[in-house]
Amino acid sequence: MKAKIVGLLKEATTPLSGEKISQDLGVSRVSVHKHINGLRERGYSITAGSTGYTLEDEGDFLYPWEFGERDPLIHFYEEATSTMTIARDLAESDCPHMTTVVAQRQTKGRGRLNRVWDSQDGGLYFTVILRPSLPINQVYKVLFTASVSLALVVRNLTGINATVKWPNDILVGEKKLNGMLSEMATQDEFVQYVNLGIGVNVNNNPSKAEPNAVSIRDLLGQEFPRRKILTGFLDSMEERLKNKDEDVIAQWKQYTSTIGRPVRIQTTRDVLEGRAVDVNSQGSLIVELADGRLEEVFHGDCFYQSGEAQES
Ligand code: BTN
Repeated sequence: MKAKIVGLLKEATTPLSGEKISQDLGVSRVSVHKHINGLRERGYSITAGSTGYTLEDEGDFLYPWEFGERDPLIHFYEEATSTMTIARDLAESDCPHMTTVVAQRQTKGRGRLNRVWDSQDGGLYFTVILRPSLPINQVYKVLFTASVSLALVVRNLTGINATVKWPNDILVGEKKLNGMLSEMATQDEFVQYVNLGIGVNVNNNPSKAEPNAVSIRDLLGQEFPRRKILTGFLDSMEERLKNKDEDVIAQWKQYTSTIGRPVRIQTTRDVLEGRAVDVNSQGSLIVELADGRLEEVFHGDCFYQSGEAQES
């Protein structure tokens, strides 16, 4: 009901009377009034004039009813320890493909390599549970699909020149706009689920905790609705995962800033330095070492080193 009322108010160009809403939705005026108050309590700015209700501004809400038909798949939390933890429980209890856990803030946001992910209000923090029916050795496709989807959503919705950094970060210039973390369970050589956790700096102030990070608000000079980024990402991801023949590595290469860069790759055990020269068809980074040898890197965190990027 809240979804429907918000939908009607968003579409309306003039104030909507309680009577009109109750007729359109087939519920009593008392029920409409109750739902309007419920929406106000959750932060919606709805004014009541002599001719009816007006939604003063769309706001930046992530409640399930903001996501149309996805509503039943969206699990929203005002505060979570980490959306990864909740998502794992849901995945283990057989929740459907594309179930999404989203939190307004996280108290124990997790980053890669056991780092903390600063998760203040205003950022977009979610984990989507994917069941892609892929053999284990093709799971890289899911991660690269996610990077391409997110980079394109940011580019298309905001006009920001987002690039992808191996393996899954989105950068603007040299600054980090998002982070991605994945957890997987397998069964009989096949992926059972991949939980993809994504934090996007949207209307938060990430540079306090991380000087090399930037938010969409910093770049646009104004707030941007997180709902639009999440909806765009989920739509794109769902569509792309259906198309098994898509050459996602080729697409990723169109938007990468990694190839040609001097890089330092850090894994939990090792550090490797060289120049990134390619990403192969399995998603591994090919690094040219100082002595000219080529090293294939399957996983790790990539840091750009100072020095000019070169064409490869
Ligand atoms: C990185 O280190 O770059 C990965 C950061 C991933 C952060 C996201 S926020 C939503 C999800 N929940 C978490 O605890 N971590 C991921």
